[in-house]
Amino acid sequence: MPIACATLPAGMSKRFYITTAIDYVNGQPHLGHAYEKVIADTIARARRSLGGEVFFLTGVDEHGQKVQQAALSEGKQPQEYCDELAAVWQAFARKLDLANDDFIRTTQQRHQRIVHALLSKLYQAGHIYKAVYKGFYSPKEETFLTERDRLPDGTFDPAYGEVIELAEENYYFRLREHQKWLIEYIESHAEFVMPEYRRNEVLGFLKTETLEDLCITRPVTRLRWGIPVPFDTNFVTYVWFDALTNYISIPAALGDPTVLSALPGVAEPGAPGLALWPADIHVIGKDIIKFHCVYWPIMLKAAGLPLPKQVLVHGWWQKDGQKMSKSLGNVVDPVAVIDEWGVDAFRYYVLRELDIGPDGNWTDASFVARYNTELANGLGNLLNRSLAMLKRYRGGLVPSQSAELAPEAERTMTRVRALLDQNKLQTALIEIWALVDRANQYVDQTAPFKLAKDPAQASRLDHVLYSLAETCRILAVLLWPFLPGTARKIYTQLGLEGEPNKFELARWGGLVPGHQIGEPVPLFPRKDKA
Ligand code: MSP
Repeated sequence: MPIACATLPAGMSKRFYITTAIDYVNGQPHLGHAYEKVIADTIARARRSLGGEVFFLTGVDEHGQKVQQAALSEGKQPQEYCDELAAVWQAFARKLDLANDDFIRTTQQRHQRIVHALLSKLYQAGHIYKAVYKGFYSPKEETFLTERDRLPDGTFDPAYGEVIELAEENYYFRLREHQKWLIEYIESHAEFVMPEYRRNEVLGFLKTETLEDLCITRPVTRLRWGIPVPFDTNFVTYVWFDALTNYISIPAALGDPTVLSALPGVAEPGAPGLALWPADIHVIGKDIIKFHCVYWPIMLKAAGLPLPKQVLVHGWWQKDGQKMSKSLGNVVDPVAVIDEWGVDAFRYYVLRELDIGPDGNWTDASFVARYNTELANGLGNLLNRSLAMLKRYRGGLVPSQSAELAPEAERTMTRVRALLDQNKLQTALIEIWALVDRANQYVDQTAPFKLAKDPAQASRLDHVLYSLAETCRILAVLLWPFLPGTARKIYTQLGLEGEPNKFELARWGGLVPGHQIGEPVPLFPRKDKA
């Protein structure tokens, strides 16, 4: 089948399209979900700051057995239950200060329509067939069990209740015939799975195991809460097939020409016609790599659509060296952390502490240490003393321009730009803090409080005060993708209008002599925990 080619209408340019995994609506928003969304948001903001047009999508995954069961156990209809929880997740996105352009719920009509179109197309083209599956089934848990679920003595965990042998008809999506193509594709597209060790993991799996065709339906007799299968009303769609499709359903609904050329007629009436597909980055956690790097590319290829440019795989957080779990009571609640410390303290910690790839470990002690050392004493103190001195010694009026810290600031700007291009967020923060530290050291070396006592040093003091205020302004611009609220506050305290949201504003010399700055207010009030 030919792959749809994005010949965009004149004047239409493709946006940088970034997505997150869509969270199970029935779970509690926790550190892991928050981390992933903050990564994607920072990349999205960085691309915007660098001048790109961006579309950032996140959302929730609402169908499936667990949601159906949870709703019923609360005496609610699944839709009502999902509506309540989707509101919680949307509020969570706001709490994290995400600048997402849309929020998908898989129960929305605009999504279901595209799942239908995709299933129909794949069925008609012979990619889907019906077959009987025979296996061990737990009626209590309403799930099939595999050999891997057996205990060492060969029995199944009593939690599954009575296990019976069951034969069930379902629809299957052909995977096996695409295995060789997928290996070649991943081998020839080095950037498709990042970091590289995750790519090797996928290749290792594809080269050693034969792909089983994927069961993509569930009979309505045991699951009602799913998207009906268009060619057989006795079945609903398997939740992962439904969920992965979200990445193209929003582009299609918005009138993306590439998706529409493979699935005609599915745009929403009055769609703006944004060009989004193929996605530039899917940000996901390491546990769902097989779905995104094996099933999803094959689904797209079978539909005649180009593949996303990159699946960016992050690691998992632990708390105090242990897996987070409700039963251990060690789940980090991002909302509680944000309420106590502020959203940017949270965003800073997760982005600075953990590179995108390896697993991380949250400890309250390291959170507090980074807050006090890097945010309060580092950035916060720099801004506060720079502005307080400018107020005290020059009535808050920016003195004539100086370029004493310009070489350092410009070097930082160049490095950060290159790092943002490669999504190296942690290293970019390290670079930015090298400038924070350099500026703080500059205060100690030049000792403006001493210069202020000597009228003969007035011009020297002007140089120092200008260089400090200008460095703070540049820091606001560099920090905007990571800590948007803090960047805004720095701008406000400098008495500047607008947002520091364009990278080019980080050029030295933006502060104009005679400009009146605003009021200094501590950015990160020190909190000495009892
Ligand atoms: N609904 C599916 C995803 C469908 S995407 C088409 C799902 N949902 S989830 O709520 O279980 O997980 C959502 C994301 O959160 C995943 O990318 C997962 O890796 C991430 N995390 C969940 N726990 C995590 C940690 N402890 N640490 C880091 N991320 C983790 O899977």
